[in-house]
Amino acid sequence: MLIQQREIPPVANDMMNMLHEDEVEVVNRFHDAVIARDIDKIDELFEEVIADVEVHFATEEAMMETANYEFAAIHKGDHDTMRVKLKDLHERWKILKGPKEVKGFLEKDFKSWFKLHISKWDSDTAPNI
Ligand SMILES: [Fe+2]
Ligand SMILES: [Fe+2]
Repeated sequence: MLIQQREIPPVANDMMNMLHEDEVEVVNRFHDAVIARDIDKIDELFEEVIADVEVHFATEEAMMETANYEFAAIHKGDHDTMRVKLKDLHERWKILKGPKEVKGFLEKDFKSWFKLHISKWDSDTAPNI
């Protein structure tokens, strides 16, 4: 398991907590497939992770826009950084099919980013949207 649900701090917005819980579940399934080096499953779940991340980010961005949240652009900027990283990794995966690279990304990059993003940006944003 990559991320335990209890590692993720709850924020003051139920919708955001639901999105985070859902993402942890999808990313953990993806990580399991990566550990198992199951190429077909990784292919399938990579698409699902990207779609799920997009729903997560786009929903928060829409809520920030509706609320006219002051720091919406910078919060979105941190989403965009991860969007680009995921897209680049997906492109490399499609060519190289290297589970080791994906494993390294999930364990060293994504996990810490996800926890930090929620502790900082999502926590600061939640009471304001
Ligand atoms: Fe979030
Ligand atoms: Fe966010």
